[in-house]
Formats: sequence, structure tokens, C-alpha cells
Amino acid sequence: MSTAFDMTAGQVTIDGRKILRGVDLTVDDGEVVAVLGANGSGKSTLVRALLGVQPLSGGTTLLYGRPPARFREWWRIGYVPQRLSVGGGVPATVREVVASGRIARQRRGRFTSSADRQAVAAALNEVGLSDRAGDPVSSLSGGQQQRVLIARALAGEPDAFVLDEPTAGVDAGSQQMLAQTLSDLVGRGKTVVLVAHELGPLEPLVSRAVVLNQGCKVHDGAPPTAVGAHALPGHDHVHPHEPEPAESSLPSWVLAQEKA
Ligand SMILES: Nc1ncnc2c1ncn2[C@@H]1O[C@H](COP(=O)(O)OP(=O)(O)OP(=O)(O)O)[C@@H](O)[C@H]1O
Ligand SMILES: [Mg+2]
Repeated sequence: MSTAFDMTAGQVTIDGRKILRGVDLTVDDGEVVAVLGANGSGKSTLVRALLGVQPLSGGTTLLYGRPPARFREWWRIGYVPQRLSVGGGVPATVREVVASGRIARQRRGRFTSSADRQAVAAALNEVGLSDRAGDPVSSLSGGQQQRVLIARALAGEPDAFVLDEPTAGVDAGSQQMLAQTLSDLVGRGKTVVLVAHELGPLEPLVSRAVVLNQGCKVHDGAPPTAVGAHALPGHDHVHPHEPEPAESSLPSWVLAQEKA
């Protein structure tokens, strides 16, 4: 089995502040890994560093065995960044944005092929936006725009998907659509790294969960739903009327988070 992502002691420092503090993370082909953690815990920074979009200030990271600067097979990775405002003033149509997902597959100077057109049509169909293909992206709802970004990643037919909070703040219909798409990808044996605040209905799809707290990996293993909703990352508000849980009933990574 080959390894899609392999970070060792990954460190990110921005303006002298340590944002990622020595994270080890290996994602094998076919794994479905959730990256969980509270706001600002470093989830987006971690996936950006995994992809080489965010340079490391220490440690190493490999994409299919190569450091980002020597990686050439970008078509193998479909990245859906968090809160990308596609459309922001640019009158691109849904089809154009989705077609941009084919760029890493196209040879220089080659025009769009029928394989490109088919992949774009299939991706639009998968996310239920075939009938909106000619519309400006800016005319779509937030959830539909998120689906456009997913379709762009799908259109590239990558081996690995890196999705940064794809369901955050989208309508119920789009959430359902995304869950279905994710489940299809998992069924097809794709590698998935999924950033989320909470897994919710996606939990059964995930083979492993990594939890970040203040730039440190504090858990790497089974998804943490077994310990109850209050232990979920991000659920860090106080319930003054409830008794303190017995410390021994909580796994160590939860305690580490609460003490931080
Ligand atoms: N470009 C940047 N400049 C300055 N600080 C940054 C930058 N990118 C991230 N940070 C800081 O690094 C920390 C981690 O940010 P990051 O976006 O990775 O967290 P996150 O877990 O993805 O948060 P969220 O759940 O809100 O998406 C935060 O404190 C953030 O303010
Ligand atoms: Mg984020």
C-alpha cells in the first residue's frame, strides 16, 4: 500500500507564532481521515501544510513520497479549501469553475478533450448542478457554491480528496448531497482527508480521526463519538448546571484539551 500524505514533526510558524507544533500524520491510500478540533486549533493550517500550500518552518511532508517542491502529479489531489469565495465579482459560470478542476490533467497547449467534457458533466451530475451549468457561480446559494467546489475537485478525478469543512454553514439539502458524494468516494476506495468541527452523520464513513488542540495532535485513532457529544472537539462551552464528569471516564486527549 502506498502512502498519500506523510508529515513528520510538521511545524508552521506565522509571524513568529507557532501555529502547528510538530505534527506527525500519515495517511495511507484508501484511508478516510477526519481532522477535528476547535476553532483556530490549526486544522486548515495542517491540511494546507500537508499539501505544501503552507510552507513548513520545521519537519517534513511528503505527497505520494515526494516533497511538495518535487511533486509533479497534482492531478492526483483534489483540494476543496475552506470558505473560498468563488464568484467574488468574477462572472465565471458553474461549468467554467468545475472545468478548472481539469487543468492539472491537461497537457500544455492542448485543448479541452471529450474526456475533459465528460468528467465535467459527470461531476456536475454527481453534485446535482447539471441544470445550473451555464449560470454565474455568484447567482448560487452558499451551499450550491460549495457543491461547485466539490464538483471541481471531482472533475479532476484525483486519487485523494482534501476537504476543508465542506459542510460548514450549508443548507440541509447541500449537506445531504455532500454526505452522499463523500460516501460514493469512500465506496470507490478514494483517499479522503476531511476537516470538520463535528462529524455528525459522516462519522460512519470515517476510518480514523485526528484531533488538534492549539496546533498539537492530541488524538489519532477511532472517531471520538464513543465518549459522548460533550467530548466532541469544538464542544468546549461550559454547562454550569451539570455535574463534572469523572476524569477517569474521559480519554486522555479530551482531558488534554480541557486543561489547555
Ligand atoms: N495567514 C495567517 N496569518 C496569521 N495567523 C494565521 C494565519 N493562518 C492561520 N493563522 C492562525 O493560526 C491558528 C490556526 O488557524 P487555522 O485556520 O489553521 O485553524 P482552524 O482549526 O482551521 O480554524 P477554523 O475551525 O476556524 O477553520 C489561528 O489562531 C489563526 O488565527
Ligand atoms: Mg479552518
